[in-house]
Amino acid sequence: MGSQKQGFIWLSGLLFLNILLFSSADVHHYAFVLQESEFTKLCSTMSILTVNGSFPGPEIRVRRGDTVFVNVHNQGNDAVSIVWEGVEDSIDGSDDLIQPGRNLTYEIELDEELGTLWWHAKSAWASATVHGAFVILPAANETYPFPAPTSDQTIILGSWFKQELTEANETIAPGQADAYTINGHPGETYGCSNDTTYQLQVDYEGVYLLRLVNAAVNETMVFGIAYHSFTIVGQSGAYSRRSFANSLTLAPGQTLDILLAANQNLGQYYMTARPSSGRYVTTGIIQYTASAGV
Ligand SMILES: *[C@@H]1O[C@H](CO)[C@@H](O)[C@H](O)[C@H]1NC(C)=O
Ligand SMILES: *[C@@H]1O[C@H](CO)[C@@H](O)[C@H](O)[C@H]1NC(C)=O
Ligand SMILES: *[C@@H]1O[C@H](CO)[C@@H](O)[C@H](O)[C@H]1NC(C)=O
Ligand SMILES: *[C@@H]1O[C@H](CO)[C@@H](O)[C@H](O)[C@H]1NC(C)=O
Ligand SMILES: *[C@@H]1O[C@H](CO)[C@@H](O)[C@H](O)[C@H]1NC(C)=O
Ligand SMILES: *[C@@H]1O[C@H](CO)[C@@H](O)[C@H](O)[C@H]1NC(C)=O
Repeated sequence: MGSQKQGFIWLSGLLFLNILLFSSADVHHYAFVLQESEFTKLCSTMSILTVNGSFPGPEIRVRRGDTVFVNVHNQGNDAVSIVWEGVEDSIDGSDDLIQPGRNLTYEIELDEELGTLWWHAKSAWASATVHGAFVILPAANETYPFPAPTSDQTIILGSWFKQELTEANETIAPGQADAYTINGHPGETYGCSNDTTYQLQVDYEGVYLLRLVNAAVNETMVFGIAYHSFTIVGQSGAYSRRSFANSLTLAPGQTLDILLAANQNLGQYYMTARPSSGRYVTTGIIQYTASAGV
């Protein structure tokens, strides 16, 4: 009798747990405001189209199976539509242009997508500055299929143009950009003392999940970190069989999830991003901070 009762309690416990798990998918609401904003890079100031005044734009960060509503208000001067790269669901209104002064809400139902996706303006000229990461964490009842990272960091590779981009620049040929950026920073190689450099702080013996997005317009990018190698664990919104690499080549629009082991001598190391077309190298810095006991 007692064991039957225990069995019942155990079963109803399981049932309760199941209900908890099955109702774990969340609904998120984001608001994006398309607006012109001024930025100074390569020693010149210009106005670019942004989402919420940031370059790159805001990150969406949700879990597998969640639903995301993104309300996009166009306060810019041109009609724009947003592409949710790598989302399998067909999204209502995804072909509609949002006219200046109007807004549109995209409803994005995630399913099996996992890892790193990204969003960007549909036209090439606008996507140079209107883009951001779309991070999909494991569901609440799931874990990464690789050792849990110390923390994760998004790294978006972008291109920068000194001249204004408009509808007249419908297509952008490889090599046309004046600089390449790491999370918006051109670094120190373009000869302008005002340019800022991207820095990533790591703890010795930490393992970092880097979410790389190649948002550079029409450009294959090569990424590396001096004296470090990488374990590739996912690409384009799915986990992949693990592979190892010293440098990474990302096709236009490609995303990669990689593990970086901070296992070198304490110090600073260069991070580099360059187009495969060969012009320019953009640098960032990995800065080790001593961990407790070092
Ligand atoms: C997590 O929960 C979802 C339903 O919300 C289910 O489909 C999935 O199989 C569960 N995963 C694990 C590892 O239990
Ligand atoms: C963008 O800006 C709007 C208006 O200021 C704000 O309500 C919204 O939360 C911002 N969105 C993000 C993703 O930061
Ligand atoms: C760049 O910095 C110098 C001083 O270091 C300053 O005089 C100049 O105005 C700055 N240029 C821009 C475009 O901000
Ligand atoms: C957003 O667009 C809808 C029509 O699609 C309109 O009814 C609503 O007033 C708009 N909201 C804002 C804040 O402009
Ligand atoms: C894009 O087109 C505009 C308008 O024709 C022009 O002024 C600008 O220089 C072009 N930008 C580039 C990078 O070619
Ligand atoms: C990319 O460059 C190629 C070669 O110049 C060009 O034909 C194509 O239209 C460009 N694509 C975009 C999206 O600008």
